[in-house]
Amino acid sequence: MADNIILIGFMGVGKGRIARALVEKTGMFAIDTDDLIESLVNMKIRKIFEMHGEPYFRELEQRTADWLRCNVCNSIVSTGGGFFKVKKLGKKDKVVYLHSSLESIVATMEAHPKAKKKIKKRPLLQNMEQANILYKKRLPLYRKAADIEINVEQMEAEYVADKIVRKLGLK
Ligand code: S3P
Repeated sequence: MADNIILIGFMGVGKGRIARALVEKTGMFAIDTDDLIESLVNMKIRKIFEMHGEPYFRELEQRTADWLRCNVCNSIVSTGGGFFKVKKLGKKDKVVYLHSSLESIVATMEAHPKAKKKIKKRPLLQNMEQANILYKKRLPLYRKAADIEINVEQMEAEYVADKIVRKLGLK
């Protein structure tokens, strides 16, 4: 199994959007780890954090990673911002780190018509000072976990998808 393309990166960087653009370009199927987790426990991410705390959510991420490794191949996997920390990530996959500055991520999110909803559903974005600390801590770790890095700041999803296709030789 495996040989998936795993998109990692900070909250709100556009992993889902870019996954959808990749589907259009390649005809591959896409799957999202937060969606899998929400359906597994029939609860929204925000509620999982609220009722069971972050460590439980991380356990669910590990279970999801183990399931993906055994059951999903040749697919695009968009992930939650902390998913890259699971054990055995990308042993047989291509891990793509989508990079943008935090300032740009926040500005794009705030300009979105559904900005409030987008921020509210992310428990780790409630306090911007904390989010900034988390971003700085994770940046080198994303880079270490990735096979390739793509700068997505101010870029259209379609353009980013093209870049990924070319860099990974998908066509
Ligand atoms: C998280 C990112 C979220 C979601 C959860 C935790 C993180 O996904 O998995 O709120 O630890 O960075 P997005 O990256 O899609 O916002």
